[in-house]
Amino acid sequence: MMVLFGGRSGEHAISCATAGGVLAAVDRTRYDVVAVGITREGQWVLADDDPARWAITDGRLPEVLDTASRVVLPQGTVDRDVQVVERGQVARTLGAVDVVLPLLHGPFGEDGTLQGLLELADVRYVGSGVLASAVGMDKHVMKTVLVGAGLPVGPYRVLLPSAPADPASLEALVAGLGLPLFVKPARAGSSLGITRVTDLAQLPEAVAEARRHDPKVVVEAGIVGREVECGVLGGRRGAPPRASVPGEIVVTDPRHAFYDFEAKYLDESGVTLSCPADLPAGVVAAVQDVAVRSFEALGCEGLARVDVFVTPDDEVVVNEVNTMPGFTPYSMYPRMWQASGVDYATLVDELLQLALE
Ligand code: DAL
Ligand code: MG
Repeated sequence: MMVLFGGRSGEHAISCATAGGVLAAVDRTRYDVVAVGITREGQWVLADDDPARWAITDGRLPEVLDTASRVVLPQGTVDRDVQVVERGQVARTLGAVDVVLPLLHGPFGEDGTLQGLLELADVRYVGSGVLASAVGMDKHVMKTVLVGAGLPVGPYRVLLPSAPADPASLEALVAGLGLPLFVKPARAGSSLGITRVTDLAQLPEAVAEARRHDPKVVVEAGIVGREVECGVLGGRRGAPPRASVPGEIVVTDPRHAFYDFEAKYLDESGVTLSCPADLPAGVVAAVQDVAVRSFEALGCEGLARVDVFVTPDDEVVVNEVNTMPGFTPYSMYPRMWQASGVDYATLVDELLQLALE
């Protein structure tokens, strides 16, 4: 089993932290574990499989460093050895890999590109395939698919890469959305590049910031409501998707205007992950229904975390679907399953078994 992490996206360090959690929990009597890191430049290297190496400690973000070894995934990997090449020579073989756990977040990992590579290599892998991963990564296409399936999404506008971004054009684009606005790169994660705009004068800079991550930008109307998340697991043949109990994000420190990167990973004291969320049974059922339908609308497999808003009228509005959600033992996805009776190690095992079926 190959645990694959790091990668070229802005969420490199989060992926490392996720891998640390999984490396600590995976049952090594059942699985031979090979840890492979992808550097920020995209090189695949043999990585330390000591979980402690990959934790986020004291605000220090872990990173895969280039060791000059190259892990080579041959085509038809199911029955061919993965090789480690050093200075152009095969230094060792790692044996055949029966399943890859691609713990990558963001572009070049969670967006279908890696999944396509694994399909071409003919190796099984955990999680969604090419299409669902690509759709889940692109907030514009994701909303289009969700709306097409009759799911509730909030008002939004799309700024295509070719569209002008002068103040007058931007104000015309967002007319009718009100304030605040959330300006987001279409394809990124962990709140990177997102600005909460409370005054239209901030819009050009917010768009420029989003475009540092992606030339395509999505502008969303702020939704008044509670931020609730729901885990979905299954979605392969013989395993219909099932929903966890929902959890809620409660931002307690007013210095965080929203659940931004810092609140997510560096100043966790400013935010409470309340799990299970304190919601009436009818709302829980509605969140779970929307989560499973969103998972199915995108054609997800294995796992996804569906993030929604619950409005004061108890309406459920989908914010987004994450096909490889944060997965450290403290992350919301595993915590929601823990609260649903599936502990972390069992969850990892179930995901591997789903992929191996
Ligand atoms: N993109 C981050 C890892 C998440 O959705 O949890
Ligand atoms: Mg996301």
